[in-house]
Parts: sequence; structure tokens; C-alpha cells
Amino acid sequence: MSDLDKAAEAVLRANDRGGYTVPTAGLYPYQWNWDSAFAALGFAEFDIDRAWRELETLAEGAWPNGMWPHILFRADDPDYFPGPSVWGAGTSVGAPIASSGVSQPPVAATVARILYERDPAAGRARLRALFPKLLAWRDWFHRDRRGSGGAILVTHPWESGRDNSPDWDGAMARVPIRDLGSFQRRDTGHVDPSMRPTKDDYDRYLSLVAWGREAGWDTHRIAAEGPFAVADPTMTFILLRADRDLRVLAEGLGEIEAAARLGADCEAGADAAKALWSEDLGAYAARDERSGIFADGVSSAALLAWYAGLRDRAHEQRLLATLHDLLDAAPLSVPSFDPRHPKFDARRYWRGPVWAVVNWMVARGLHEAGHLSEAERLRRDTRRLIEGAGFYEYFDPCDGSGAGGPDFTWTAAIWLAWASPTKKEGWN
Ligand code: DGY
Repeated sequence: MSDLDKAAEAVLRANDRGGYTVPTAGLYPYQWNWDSAFAALGFAEFDIDRAWRELETLAEGAWPNGMWPHILFRADDPDYFPGPSVWGAGTSVGAPIASSGVSQPPVAATVARILYERDPAAGRARLRALFPKLLAWRDWFHRDRRGSGGAILVTHPWESGRDNSPDWDGAMARVPIRDLGSFQRRDTGHVDPSMRPTKDDYDRYLSLVAWGREAGWDTHRIAAEGPFAVADPTMTFILLRADRDLRVLAEGLGEIEAAARLGADCEAGADAAKALWSEDLGAYAARDERSGIFADGVSSAALLAWYAGLRDRAHEQRLLATLHDLLDAAPLSVPSFDPRHPKFDARRYWRGPVWAVVNWMVARGLHEAGHLSEAERLRRDTRRLIEGAGFYEYFDPCDGSGAGGPDFTWTAAIWLAWASPTKKEGWN
């Protein structure tokens, strides 16, 4: 174990709140959905039992309709905004824990497969208990969130996990700002406001929350009628990956009917991805469900196509060229938004910075598709960023400095599972 390995382990342990892990102390004091999935990936490197526990506590918040929400509020922490009273979700729809009213990309399904394959004998009972909840969650996506052409919709930028990506700018500009009274953001008390979404973003985020609350968190209606619905490559590709992994698990568990359904949805999902292809950008892109308009720049979400298992010959060479353009445009990769675009902002959250978890997913997909040098480039860059700056939430792709919150769970987890030089193979 290297010193950085030990430090990464210490970050995970320090952010452990007893069965669930916060993304970082202060800025994010609750259990976040995809953060927890990555936390489990990190715990698996030194405590597989604790890794399973992370997924199990996350699953405890599942709604009766199958959805796993993006934040579980097990307590009320005045240092975070918007908290449980603003959302008014979770327990209001019969779930056991107060929560947000949107979901997040289902990385947890893929991590469940990784945990299981580490030690199938010990993991089988855990997987068997978790599997029906994972299945119900992905069924919910397919039931409530398929947009035109079959791509998966997000109904709030927070649902995508890429809060202020320029991918949402067009659709967000059309979200009416409500009379929200006065509210005090807490995020900008923890980190420099220049690294965070703007006030205008927050006015619209909260207006969407108000709309959902008034709709009684009817997730079907919110997707069909709400003020924001965008077909998202992140959600579409991560769900497709989840479906492929769940299918393998279903077969292993002898769940024949589920395996057949998952197989059919994987084929449909590969077809649906075509609806996200923008010929103008030479990449997959977010598309506003209401206006049909594509995002006007390339974001790192496009590169999750390989992680989704897409092997679309017609688009792959072009996407590879787009990847190389992104790799050439900034010294450290992969930027979350095209550095050559006027909206690129090297330190503002999802408008440019590099995220270790995205690098892991993109690189994993590239590796599986045989694009080994590109996959290794992402791994090398992730390693350099963490060695240079520490376990920051995200990194500036131009100068490599850390940004956002420090001592971040998912960055430490990616170090342990993949980026550390002591992790020789690092691809499983
Ligand atoms: C935040 O509070 O910034 C989170 O990203 C919302 O999920």
C-alpha cells in the first residue's frame, strides 16, 4: 500500500456515517445516490462487507414505484440547502426515508455486479436480496422516463448528476422562475462561488423542485408535463450499462423472465442511443424533449457510449475523432465540456472540469472496446491529477489544480479501485 492508498482509505472511513457514506463533510452531508455506488467500489478494495452495506443502505430509500432517489435525508442538516422540508418527498409518497424527488444515474447496478464477481460465494445472498430492488429501479426508468426515440429523460439537472452542464442551458432558459421568497444557499459557504452554479441556475433548480412538489412527486406526470425534460446521454448510457450488467446477474441467479426482459431492453436501448446522435457535433448529445433541439457543444457524457457497450460502426470512428479532439484541447483529460467552446469554464463544476468518476466510466468502456491507449491516457491523467492535488471533487483540466470540495469520497474510491499505481490491472 502506498501513502496515497492509505490516505484514500482514510477519506472513505472519515466520510462513513455508519453504513452509508457522505460525498464530503460539510458541502454534501447526506447519502447521494451515485456517490454511494462509487463509495462501494472503493470500499470493495479493503472491506467487501462494508461495500455491500453501502448499496444496501442506498436501496433502503427506494420508493414504492421503484425509484431510488438521488439524496436520502436521514437527518436534517441545516448546513445543506435545499433540505428535506424544501423537497417534501420520499415519506410523502410512502417511502421509508425523506428524500429528494428525482433519481440519479444507476451506477449502483454495475457496482453490484463488480462486488458479486469479486467473491460470488460470499456475495450471492447479498445480491439475491438486492436484485429485486435494482430491477424495480430500472423498470421505473423504462416505464416513466423513456422519451421520444426511447432515450432516457432527466426532469431536473440534478438528476443527471451533471448539475450545471451547458447541456441543459437551452431547456433551463425556458424554465419559468417562480416566486421563491428568499433563500440562502449553503454550497457557496463551503466552496468558492466561482466553482459553483450561478444564482440564476439555483432559481431555476428550486423552481423545478417547487413544481415537482406541487405535482405530488408523480414522476410519470413530471416527465410528461413538467417544465424540464431532456434526453440525457449520461442517463441513457449508464442505464444501458446497468441493464447489461443486471442481465448477466439475472442469468446467474436463474431469474429467467427478468433476463429475457433485460435482454430485450438492451437491444431497444442500443437503438434508442441513435436518437441522441448529433451529426453536427460528431457526438452523442443531450436533446430537449420539448423543443427537439440538441445541445450545441460536446460534453464528456457523449463518451459514455463505450461504457454502455454500444458498438455502432457508423458512429464509432467519428466519436473516436471527437474524443481525440477533446484529449488534444486540454493538457489533462477528460474535460466535462469542450475546451474550444465559448461556454467552457475550467473550474465551474460541470462546465469544464475533469471528474475522476467520469474518467473511470469512459476509460472502462474504451478498454472493453479495445481502445487501450486512450483508456490508459485517462487513467494516467486521473493519477496525475490526484497525485498533484489530492482527493478533490473535480479538477481544472488546464492547470491540474483541485476544485470543489476536498477529501472527496468518490475521488478516493476511484484512486483505490483504478488510478493508484499499486492497482496493477485496475480494469475490474
Ligand atoms: C448539490 O447540492 O450541488 C447537488 O449536486 C445536488 O444534487
